[in-house]
This record gives sequence, C-alpha cells and structure tokens, in this order.
Amino acid sequence: MLLKDEVAIITGAARGIGRSIAEKFASQGANLAIIDVNLEAAEQTAGELARQYGVKTMAARTDVSNAEDVDAMVKKVLDTFGRIDILVNNAGVTRDNLMLRMKDEEWDLVININLKGVFVCTRSVVRHMAKARKGNIINIASVVGQMGNAGQANYTASKGGVIALTKTTAREFAGRNVRVNAVAPGFINTAMTEVLSEQVKTEMLRQVPLDRMGEPEDIANGCLFLASGMSAYITGHVLAINGGMLMQ
Ligand SMILES: NC(=O)c1ccc[n+]([C@@H]2O[C@H](COP(=O)([O-])OP(=O)(O)OC[C@H]3O[C@@H](n4cnc5c(N)ncnc54)[C@H](O)[C@@H]3O)[C@@H](O)[C@H]2O)c1
Repeated sequence: MLLKDEVAIITGAARGIGRSIAEKFASQGANLAIIDVNLEAAEQTAGELARQYGVKTMAARTDVSNAEDVDAMVKKVLDTFGRIDILVNNAGVTRDNLMLRMKDEEWDLVININLKGVFVCTRSVVRHMAKARKGNIINIASVVGQMGNAGQANYTASKGGVIALTKTTAREFAGRNVRVNAVAPGFINTAMTEVLSEQVKTEMLRQVPLDRMGEPEDIANGCLFLASGMSAYITGHVLAINGGMLMQ
C-alpha cells in the first residue's frame, strides 16, 4: 500500500473528483478527513469509504474560503488523527458568464472559493507540515487555467492563480520537506460538466485527441502518484491530465 496510515485532508470530497481521490487514497491505506460545505454528503462519503476500505475517516462542514472555518477544521483533524501528511485542495465552483455580462459577485465567489480557498487551507495546514518536516500538498487546477476559455474569466483566473500559488508554496516549503504540486484536469465527467449543453460538450470533445471525457479516477490516479513516494523528487510541477487537449 502506497499511503498506509497516512492522514489526508481532501476538500470538496463529498462527490465528484474529490470523492474519487478520497477513495483512491483509502484503497492505499490512508485515513481521511472528508471536507465539504455539504455535511450530509461528506458524512455519507466518509462512512462508505471507512466501511469499504477499513480506514479511519472523519467528515467536517467547512467553507474553504472562510479562515475561521478552516482553522477549526484543521484543529479537529489534528485532535482526531494527531498528524496531517497530505492536503488535497480540490473544492471548486464555476459561475460562467461572458466577460461583459459577468457580475462582481460571480467574480468574487469563484476567486474566493477556488483561489483564496487554496491559500487559506494551505496556510492553515502547512505550518504543521513544516514543523513535522514532512508534507505533501496537491492543488487541483484546470486545463483552462493554462489555456484560457471564453466565458470563464473568473474560473480561468482562479485556476491560473492556483498554478502560480502552487509554485510559490513549493519554493517556500521545499526546505522543510513539503512537496507541492498541481493537477490540471481537462474535461472530466462530473456534476460540474453535466450541466453543459450537448453542443458545448461536443465542441469540447472535438479538442480532445483521446476522444473521450476523462473520468474522476483518471485524476485520482495522478493524485496518488503525486501523494506517494513514487514522485519523491517532484515539486512545483503541474501534471496535465487532459486527454491531450493541451500539449506543452
Ligand atoms: N469536472 C471537470 O471537468 C473539471 C475540470 C478541471 C478542473 N476541475 C476541478 O476539479 C475540482 C472538483 O470538481 P468536480 O468536477 O468534482 O466538481 P463537483 O461540483 O462535482 O464537486 C465539488 C465539491 O466541492 C464542494 N464545494 C463547493 N464549494 C465549497 C466550499 N466553499 N468549501 C468546501 N467545499 C466546497 C461541493 O459541495 C462539491 O462536493 C474543482 O476544483 C474543479 O474546478 C474539474
């Protein structure tokens, strides 16, 4: 097992990509803190994974953009497990609109959750990792944070910011044996993309050489690689998992 007895905090883990990452880590022996704004769904996910994989899990209702919420959650995780080895900053939202129609509230909400949320969670957790001289942080960015996307000024800016923040955090904490990497998913089959029209889906798929949408497990597999010792000499990296949509 690649993560036996390690403790992982995963934000936005009640469903979708976050849940798949949690399940992958549980299958490798990690104990989990399932963090989400949706407590009921988080508790259900935590219960199911504990039963299925025989690991310890806890759930907490936390808004990642709220520093008080996050600090209280981190304390609860430390009280429960006594350590934090892995943080996956996965929680994210979209509020798409063309630039000229985008409201301040749409901009602020997405930047607050997707970008400030990564900063707030990282700041709260990394001090414990630095003290322990061991830690691993994975930030979920997006291919559109690398290439831009019409109608997503707020979302693409947040994800581009996450990539820059990943590199800065990697540089600040490398000396403390904390590795920090990002995963940039392409077009993945979750509730976030389910809402897109068939026309948009067809247009997006046309840009994907592997000619299929990604599955949450495609992202979870990359996260497992980055969370494990298999990637011991990798930090500040952006791992593209996009079916060839963007080749750099
Ligand atoms: N689905 C895709 O195609 C795709 C592509 C690239 C990147 N991503 C990124 O992957 C991540 C997961 O996306 P998904 O497709 O699984 O989405 P999803 O909507 O299925 O799941 C997101 C989860 O985050 C939770 N959440 C939302 N706001 C929160 C907050 N303030 N605090 C805590 N939790 C919160 C939601 O309750 C939900 O459980 C996001 O960061 C998203 O931007 C997704």
